[in-house]
Amino acid sequence: MSNIKPHGGELVNRVAEGAQREQLLSEAKGLKSVTIDSWTVSDLDLIGVGAFSPLTGFLNETDYRSVVDNIRLANGLVWSIPITLAVEAAKAAELAAGERVALIGEDGVVYGILDVESIYSVDQKHEAVNVFKTDDLEHPGVKKLFSRPSTYVGGPITVLNRPQPDKFGEFYFDPSETRAIFADKGWNTVVGFQTRNPVHRAHEFIQKCAMEIVDGLFLNPLVGETKSDDVPANVRMKSYLALLENYYPQNRAFLGVFPAAMRYAGPREAIFHAMVRKNYGCTHFIVGRDHAGVGDYYGTYEAQDLLKSFPAEDLGITPLYFEHSFFCKKCNNMATSKTCPHDKSEHLTLSGTKVRAMLRDGICPPPEFSRPEVAKILIEGMSEQPVNN
Ligand code: ADX
Repeated sequence: MSNIKPHGGELVNRVAEGAQREQLLSEAKGLKSVTIDSWTVSDLDLIGVGAFSPLTGFLNETDYRSVVDNIRLANGLVWSIPITLAVEAAKAAELAAGERVALIGEDGVVYGILDVESIYSVDQKHEAVNVFKTDDLEHPGVKKLFSRPSTYVGGPITVLNRPQPDKFGEFYFDPSETRAIFADKGWNTVVGFQTRNPVHRAHEFIQKCAMEIVDGLFLNPLVGETKSDDVPANVRMKSYLALLENYYPQNRAFLGVFPAAMRYAGPREAIFHAMVRKNYGCTHFIVGRDHAGVGDYYGTYEAQDLLKSFPAEDLGITPLYFEHSFFCKKCNNMATSKTCPHDKSEHLTLSGTKVRAMLRDGICPPPEFSRPEVAKILIEGMSEQPVNN
């Protein structure tokens, strides 16, 4: 049975239930409150269920500085993405360390409470350069960072209400659930696959290479906030289901979503993605070309290089690295430069922009690029979206 330890050793559980929840909900009515957007609700919930173990709340100042500067929490554990609660300065001025505040969504729901540990202001440019390797506002993660206030409030949280998905709710599993599911399936080794895209042949190829050496695949698409030109999660979900139904053995692949926001932080996000999948119970994690990258901000294998710079025992999950994969017409196969001797001109390459244009025009990309069942769903999905989306 897969019993890989969560990051930090214990799966965090900060979701209040029963009488404790009732008591905290009634206490929350009398507390000062902070309004949180859906991105922060998602972070709050993922902390609560232990997906972000060992975090028990939004980073306090010491941990924040340590994560930004050293890719580690103050206690030395590897952590690469600052999970923070940004609050308008005027609002933060009303709060004090030691106080308890209610965290309320834009929909008025009390999602949780926070025990304030520290209130601090940050240099967003420094955070951007360290985490994203750029302070260019064209970068979607940097843009998001600068759109938030520069005063952060840190401290442990307790979840009181869980965000409810409007679709595909049956594919939401907490880390404790995926761990039980993998054990139930008898999987000793499980490879996690992060994606914010439809699964094309290159993705399928690296997944299946990994599946040759582990017991099962956890297809774990990110379905939280993504940039507007990424394919919407609802369309992607349909495409994953079609792919699994037609091309994967039912008992060797498991689909469950990762309801987090995409940061586009490339190398730093690859570490974060790996730690989180360890918490979900994966023993292995796929890192291919330009993992979690955007534009030309990161080198093709920079995410792999950063992961390799950490001692294996500090990661506690085994990354499986893959080179850029493609279909080679001469090999008549999916391949990488590790297995294909032919010239680049024999390789089928299609840019994301080109594929999007084809799909928008109702044209299926070649089956060597995308399975027809997937292409069909993407074409239908495109026609339901506004052109500039
Ligand atoms: S990501 O932003 O979620 O990383 P994407 O969904 O495209 O983007 O990629 C999912 C995983 O597949 C990542 O590990 C990425 O590095 C890998 N990947 C995507 N395309 C290829 C490819 N052509 N060859 C090798 N790996 C790839």
